[in-house]
Amino acid sequence: MAQATYEYFDLKPALTDMRSAVLAGMRAQQKHVSPMYFYDADGSDLFEQITELPEYYLTRTEIALFDQYSDAIAQRIGSNVCLVEYGSGSSRKIRKLLETARPAAYVPVDISGEHLQANARALHTDNPWLNVYPTCTDFTLPFDLPAAVADLPKAGFFPGSSIGNFEPSAAIELLRNIHVTLGQGAHLLIGVDRKKSVELLEAAYDDAAGVTAQFNLNLLGHLNESLDANFDLTKFTHRATYNAEVGAVQMHLISRCAQQVQVAGELFNFAEGEALHTENSFKYHPEEFLALAAQAGFAANAQWTDANDWYGVYLLTAQ
Ligand code: TRP
Repeated sequence: MAQATYEYFDLKPALTDMRSAVLAGMRAQQKHVSPMYFYDADGSDLFEQITELPEYYLTRTEIALFDQYSDAIAQRIGSNVCLVEYGSGSSRKIRKLLETARPAAYVPVDISGEHLQANARALHTDNPWLNVYPTCTDFTLPFDLPAAVADLPKAGFFPGSSIGNFEPSAAIELLRNIHVTLGQGAHLLIGVDRKKSVELLEAAYDDAAGVTAQFNLNLLGHLNESLDANFDLTKFTHRATYNAEVGAVQMHLISRCAQQVQVAGELFNFAEGEALHTENSFKYHPEEFLALAAQAGFAANAQWTDANDWYGVYLLTAQ
């Protein structure tokens, strides 16, 4: 077989200015910091650990579904497809599907160019038959796919229930942008966590070993290092609660006492018990998620769930 191509595309995503974004969130009535800043080197390590926690059922349940149904998925998306992975990270979840679907091309998309290239190179080494076109861009916006895949049918891959980290209105906008990028007739394979008991949901985001707490608190450590802030990590506690009204697990850092914190030269006051919001993880019943997808022009093609009905994998078609 002819040697397949590896080519990196840097679309030079506009990087948000961390300083102004963090300061704006800290000045707000409800203080908040973007979850984007979880992922420094320590944060990425801690997140890897979260995915292996007994309470964090999401990753293992999703991988089991992708593996168990990879033949059915491959049959529906067809061979000779161009697979586009949104937020590819380590590309771990796609490997089984690559073997069964044998796509013509794989386009991992991520905003972090270094990680993207390292992981895409490794994947190409393991799958030398596959054309790999890593593309560095902000995947929440529409973008141009490499010219080499223009004539191939497209299938998007968006795992990890990452769609749940967007407000529903932003999730619809993101799905619309995916529709624009992939085009009419494209498939989208997406993993979405389901609503379930409060106990199970809250345990998944507040594990007994305290790894998620460390992950959440590490955000403050990242601000200390990157923005010359002086958060005392021992003066905040992790809180993850399921808000049934909004349908999301909400992560906060709670100030243990009245205190002042400096961030990039600016002073901020925290009252005792005041919450700094760090992340939402929206949960969807299948019919709720499909209604949301429909608003972005995607119809249900197939759906799969585990024996407990904990997690949803959906194959959508762009109308
Ligand atoms: N999207 C996943 C989720 O909401 C993974 C994730 C993002 C996460 N941020 C997190 C998991 C913070 C734990 C804590 O579950």
